[in-house]
Amino acid sequence: MKYFKVWFILLSAFFALNSFAQNILDGGDDKYTPRVGQDGKDVIWVPTTNELLAIMLKTAKVNSNDLVYDLGSGDGRIAIAAAKDFGARAVGIEFNPEMAKLAQRNVDRSGVADRVKIINGDIFVEDFSKATVVTMYLLPELNLTLRPTILKMKPGTRVTSHAFNMGDWDADLEIDSPAKAFYWVVPAQVGGEWVISGMEPDRTILKLSQHYQKIGGTLQIGNTSQPLLNPKLDGATLSFTYLDRDKSSHFVILAVNNNEIKGVYKSRSYNNNVITGKRL
Ligand SMILES: C[S@@+](CC[C@H](N)C(=O)[O-])C[C@H]1O[C@@H](n2cnc3c(N)ncnc32)[C@H](O)[C@@H]1O
Repeated sequence: MKYFKVWFILLSAFFALNSFAQNILDGGDDKYTPRVGQDGKDVIWVPTTNELLAIMLKTAKVNSNDLVYDLGSGDGRIAIAAAKDFGARAVGIEFNPEMAKLAQRNVDRSGVADRVKIINGDIFVEDFSKATVVTMYLLPELNLTLRPTILKMKPGTRVTSHAFNMGDWDADLEIDSPAKAFYWVVPAQVGGEWVISGMEPDRTILKLSQHYQKIGGTLQIGNTSQPLLNPKLDGATLSFTYLDRDKSSHFVILAVNNNEIKGVYKSRSYNNNVITGKRL
């Protein structure tokens, strides 16, 4: 019985390792077989496992309205899965020409050529500003180099990175299994002062401080100022609660569009009142 158990454990380990290796290596074909760890321009090739990439795409809520860009796309597996399993359009940017050609053949073989494009190019040169979702498996310093470009993307753009974070831009969510990955939503730039109309009869000024997606601030109504309760920024959606002069609380939710904000709150009579705001 004891020997049977040992054999069973060894055999299970062998099959687990074998299928892991298979999963890692099944990106090649008869024309080109990449080697895990082979040199790349700025980072070597190590593929994301199919299990983790599915979790990353699911976390980013990828759907048929999305345009996913995989930066450093290797054999194309993330772009292909985004199209095949999540219905998105996708673009892979890969510097290595042989790898890019292999990825294109993988795209054709997967039957998603109408929705997936592989660009043989450099992620630091190609324009990926139209992406609604960005995926990457690069290096910490490359993430930091890309960070300013990513933060200028449309607020609400979702970003997910295998293994590496974005320095002091804390992730909105961390994935721990089967490997480490991170998820962010690009925040709108809201820091500063806004004059708000339609909320209170007195002049209303919203003052916001911002560190990426983390915000705080005050609401000044006439001559009195109060801290915002539960302020949140999710992409271009800003929300908070405040107390009116009768100490009734109101939940406010606003869409940020550059220098304008627009939204609704529940008024004392429970109507949905429209609020607008402009940067001061
Ligand atoms: C760690 S692999 C990740 C592959 C794929 N994204 C995945 O997760 O399975 C990184 C890939 O980036 C490519 N690469 C390295 N530097 C690049 C650059 N500057 N522009 C485009 N691709 C690059 C490498 O050739 C490699 O295929």
